[in-house]
Amino acid sequence: MFSEDVASFFRSPVREIFKRVDLNSIYSFAGGYPSADTFPLDEIRKTMSEVISTYGGQAFQYGATQGVMQLREAVAERYGVSVERVQITSSSQQGIDVCTRVLVDPGDVILTSSPSYLGALQSFRSYRADIRGVAHMNDIDSFREAYVQVIEQVLSEGKKIKFLYMIPDFQNPSGESLTFGERKMLVELARRYGFLIVEDSPYRELRYEGEDIPTMYSIDPDIVIHLGSFSKIFAPGFRLGWAIAHPEILDKIYVCKQSLDLCPPVFDQYVAAEFLRSGRLDANLSRSIGLYKGKRDLLLSLLEKYMPRGVRWTHPEGGLFLFLTMPEGFDAVKFYDTALDAGVAYVAGEFFHPDGSGKNTMRMNFSFMTEEKITEGVQLLARLLRAEIVDN
Ligand SMILES: Cc1ncc(COP(=O)(O)O)c(C=O)c1O
Repeated sequence: MFSEDVASFFRSPVREIFKRVDLNSIYSFAGGYPSADTFPLDEIRKTMSEVISTYGGQAFQYGATQGVMQLREAVAERYGVSVERVQITSSSQQGIDVCTRVLVDPGDVILTSSPSYLGALQSFRSYRADIRGVAHMNDIDSFREAYVQVIEQVLSEGKKIKFLYMIPDFQNPSGESLTFGERKMLVELARRYGFLIVEDSPYRELRYEGEDIPTMYSIDPDIVIHLGSFSKIFAPGFRLGWAIAHPEILDKIYVCKQSLDLCPPVFDQYVAAEFLRSGRLDANLSRSIGLYKGKRDLLLSLLEKYMPRGVRWTHPEGGLFLFLTMPEGFDAVKFYDTALDAGVAYVAGEFFHPDGSGKNTMRMNFSFMTEEKITEGVQLLARLLRAEIVDN
């Protein structure tokens, strides 16, 4: 009875963890949840009431498929683009999914970083895309060469590359960012070989140190589709995001979305628009940045203090995650039961690698737990790792 696509669906291991344990009762470095402390409940309540007074029943009516004009205009102004280049999405997961749906036929190739965001890999697989991951390299010439090799290999197989999927800012799961030079290099490859780029950037505005790096979209707005989200800068429960792209691409997404959800949630869009317009979003965002910076700094200092030798980790300048690499031979999937039985959760890095490599890696989130729980959780995890790594 089921379609052929269904055989390619796979369950998110992260969501399986959520089913197995109550995240609040253990030390959870697993999910990508923002801290609920960052949700400005009083201001949301006030804004909701203002929206009802201003728009009345219209706030609960069906809306335009592209999104309500107030929000499109607010997004266009914030990111310096024209309004016809803005499509509101039911959050960036939908942005990823509609891009794949309008661009990819079964067997087409999607290039991505390795590791990459699990939800994107789920979407790509569900359309039976052929995913080719490329690991990051610090030397830009070697990095470029690695991409060229994969591209040439794909072309020699007679396959089409439809797009490169990248999370250039504070990547999920690694927490790392692409330099401006790397962004330019990848855009040049896309131009040369004739594929698009889907730039997924939900963490871009959560920067705790360093300077902003221009988006890939700003390098070539005609071949880059930029995806943004309110999930990490406001609240994920609103399920709102945006796609910024060439109008011809957006037109296909627009028609596709007519069959998906008719329109993004209307009331939520008016609330988000008012939050942006009134400056409440930015005021709240700067409080969130302060909170998360403190948590990131704490996690980095705890890892330094407690982790056994041979364990390495990334130093993200923003976002919600960092990535641990254990000595060769360590299996983070196998170790997971030991950790969970002891009361600490993470996500094994293998799940983020399209080719199943990265067995000795894990992703740690630092936004969700309190500082107290982060401290106790790292001490517990380090104790377990020490026993495991020494035993082996
Ligand atoms: C890189 C990346 N893209 C997209 C999403 C989806 O977020 P949302 O659909 O809430 O915007 C996430 C969520 O964690 C993510 O990490």
